[in-house]
Amino acid sequence: LAGFLAGKCSGDSANAPVSATPELTVLFGSQTGNAEELAQRLAARALERGVSAKAIDMADYKPRQLKNEQYLAVLASTHGEGDPPDNALDLHEFLHGKKAPKLGGLRYSVLSLGDSSYEHFCKTGQDFDSKLAALGATALAERVDCDVDYEDQAEDWINRVLETIASEAGASQPAANSPIAAAQRPISTFSRKNPYPATILTNQLLSGRGSDKEVRHIELSLEDSGLVYKPGDAVGVYPENNPALVNNLLSALGFDGEQRVLVEESDIPLREALAFYREITLLTPPLMKHWADRVESDALKALVADRAEMMAWTEGRDLLDLVQAWPIAGLEPQTLVDLLRKLPPRLYSISSSQTAVEDEVHITVAAVRYASHGRNREGVASVWLSERMSEGAKLRVYIDPNTKFALPDDSKPVIMIGPGTGVAPFRAFLQEREEREAEGENWLFFGDRRFRSDFLYQSEWLKWRRDGLLTRLDVAFSRDQAEKRYVQHCLKENSAEVWAWLQRGASLYVCGDADKMAPDVHQALLDIASEQGGLNPEQAEDYLRQLNRDKRYQRDVY
Ligand code: 2AM
Repeated sequence: LAGFLAGKCSGDSANAPVSATPELTVLFGSQTGNAEELAQRLAARALERGVSAKAIDMADYKPRQLKNEQYLAVLASTHGEGDPPDNALDLHEFLHGKKAPKLGGLRYSVLSLGDSSYEHFCKTGQDFDSKLAALGATALAERVDCDVDYEDQAEDWINRVLETIASEAGASQPAANSPIAAAQRPISTFSRKNPYPATILTNQLLSGRGSDKEVRHIELSLEDSGLVYKPGDAVGVYPENNPALVNNLLSALGFDGEQRVLVEESDIPLREALAFYREITLLTPPLMKHWADRVESDALKALVADRAEMMAWTEGRDLLDLVQAWPIAGLEPQTLVDLLRKLPPRLYSISSSQTAVEDEVHITVAAVRYASHGRNREGVASVWLSERMSEGAKLRVYIDPNTKFALPDDSKPVIMIGPGTGVAPFRAFLQEREEREAEGENWLFFGDRRFRSDFLYQSEWLKWRRDGLLTRLDVAFSRDQAEKRYVQHCLKENSAEVWAWLQRGASLYVCGDADKMAPDVHQALLDIASEQGGLNPEQAEDYLRQLNRDKRYQRDVY
């Protein structure tokens, strides 16, 4: 990352105040690029306002430095179970440990990123906030807990933080078009806020006949978009809700889909608002509470008063269930639209390397379908991409960079663990290494249900195995024999070799299921470190933690 961006660029003008340049450190801790992008934005804006600022990955920050900070901004996301992301672990632990310093002179503010449909919404940001306050630091601006549609709130927070610093420290006005600030901006005009309409070039079934899953390989054109990506990055896709669900919702509500409503200052038909701009398949706690305020029902009020009960009820249900169970008397279409949160984009790990495919980006999508509470349900984006987006159709996309999942130097070995669609980024890794003629060895662990139907991209791996790019390929097909066989079983069968690769400087990558697979693979790696390296359990944990700090153990799990 860039060092201090501003230096003294604000002090050059003759009218500049003599006060010392205020210094702002912006720490980000997140798995995806959102917190990082916002941190860079805050630092660049600070610079424009004459505040010396730098954005730093929490993993690269020396916690002892905290007591020397003047202004501190913390941007942190939260994992499913309320855990900090990997790169925030050390700082989080340090602040909650015995060695945390008194921070009486520090002025700070926290922006938490999260998803209100999860129980531990924004917990990591809240932890940082309460701990910094407990250590004596004082808030510059109140903490903001952002939901998936974080843009507006994050903008407000950035402005409030900067205004407070400017008014307290008397910072001078911008070197407005500072070249350093400009250089921080992405080259493309397309972004999360202004997505690019990409055309589908290919949309084909990847899983074979007889598979009980539908996995598709999709190629999109990025022609003339200026969008660039690296192996490990994700593409964000703005989906459309299922029109049949929108119809059912409109009839349950007794609304006319052609009626106009205001959405983000545009006057559009209600049907379009519900199809493209509002989330209708998830019931979040904030929505449930607002709903309960508008319905005369003791049962609903009792439900939302008990968080665990409420989470249990909303699980596997959607807005149609809510409307049917507790209709709001006299509900207006506009009120409904205002109650619902924005339909967030869905992220897919990119399965191509831009060096190899140039104007294209490839993704690997498993259609999510299930039944619950007497109705068939589906994942919004995956089924839309599978069933309703054929070749030639356009969809709104942007690149979500992931600096936490990036290839090492060409000379270094990599071990890639990616069961199911978790294998996607490793296709990108190998395409890239092939193009670059990278010398480092490559080892892939792939797992899925059945060899015959679920060996995703089989011919590509086999070709790379034959021509030597793939040094080793180990596969685990879980349902081809009586006993379940998973990637972590392959890992452990190869303990000595895996350990030898790690001793040679290999980097480990894990992509796919966060709930079960990633913790099980983590445990297998701990076992390998114990067995092969003679480490006790605590030392084995430290070993993996250190690998993570050294960017040699990276995970993209969801
Ligand atoms: P299963 O569905 O037969 O249990 C991709 O989804 C592959 O990951 C499947 O073969 C699936 O097996 C497997 N899988 C399920 N749970 C897993 C776990 N805890 N660790 C690793 N792989 C797992």
